[in-house]
Amino acid sequence: MITTVVYSESGGTFKTTTTANLAVSLERMGLDVCVIDLDPQEGNLTSLFDVGKHRSDPEADNLVKHILEMPDGDFEDLIETSEEGVDIVPSHDMLGDFTSNLEQKIAYETGMKNMSKDEFPRYELLYKLLWEQEQLNEQYDAILIDPNARAEDLLFNAIYAMRTLVAPVKPAGKGNLSLDGLEELVTNMSTQLDIEVGLSCVVPSGVGQTNAHQQYSKQFKNTDEYETPVAIPARESLMDTMWEARGSAFKVIEERWKTFEQDDEMISEPGRRRVRDRELETARDIYELAAFIATETFDAEIDTELTLDIEGKGEHTFDVVDDAETEVTA
Ligand SMILES: Nc1ncnc2c1ncn2[C@@H]1O[C@H](COP(=O)(O)OP(=O)(O)OP(=O)(O)O)[C@@H](O)[C@H]1O
Ligand SMILES: [Mg+2]
Repeated sequence: MITTVVYSESGGTFKTTTTANLAVSLERMGLDVCVIDLDPQEGNLTSLFDVGKHRSDPEADNLVKHILEMPDGDFEDLIETSEEGVDIVPSHDMLGDFTSNLEQKIAYETGMKNMSKDEFPRYELLYKLLWEQEQLNEQYDAILIDPNARAEDLLFNAIYAMRTLVAPVKPAGKGNLSLDGLEELVTNMSTQLDIEVGLSCVVPSGVGQTNAHQQYSKQFKNTDEYETPVAIPARESLMDTMWEARGSAFKVIEERWKTFEQDDEMISEPGRRRVRDRELETARDIYELAAFIATETFDAEIDTELTLDIEGKGEHTFDVVDDAETEVTA
């Protein structure tokens, strides 16, 4: 089973974009995939996939109620399925108050049981919910979490439950390799919680054509400290349009979504995007990244062939293992 948290210490490193694209890749590889969105902020994975209609309704049942063992319904009923077949446990505003709700629970339960607050397993709640109670391992081949890096309680719960990290990183100003925070986190988690946390790979993302960026990318490729199966280049147009297409980069390419200006208004429509070689290449890179995680980190069996069926433009097939592209035009 593939279980991973897409983690980055800093904001805006394309975590949500990466999580969405990885989830759809794994689904296309023939796996049953579930994504859990732990980020209550705007621009999260829930809004990307256009799910979570009740995320602002405090009365609605949501993941926090389940983590805190006060559900208002079945866990099953929280799950929504995106157009591309990925199951999603959507975000809810209550995630923003997770810690204060958790503190209340801890105060109450430790009071009842006459135990000290430090003894309460505050980082093990998600683990218990997903694996012991809901046994999601029987239902899914892969679970991915898009966490909120600033909310320690939720992040630690996510890592405790998943045990493996995928780390997208953006080129820093001077092109230095700053992953100190990441290594510290992995070590801290391991010692504090007595678990092993593995780093599947680091994904340099948003790498541009400047010398500093290219230098940066090279540094990553040449390191032995962690795996860097692919680097994702700067692809603002493709990735930004995911938020209009309400789906993955594959969907943007296949349905040919394009965002453009008309009469002072920004409009997004399918059927208009040009087929660009560099974007096909990026789709292939994303698929290769997912294949690396699935096979190298988790030993899963997958379909390594990616077929993009582009509206009105025929099919493009890539095999991420053979490194070959064959093109079939309809
Ligand atoms: N490879 C890329 N090149 C350029 N822009 C990108 C790339 N991938 C994603 N983006 C864009 O960058 C913006 C931020 O991406 P995203 O929301 O995935 O980051 P994040 O790490 O989840 O942010 P946050 O920390 O706020 O959760 C989005 O507008 C997205 O479309
Ligand atoms: Mg995000």
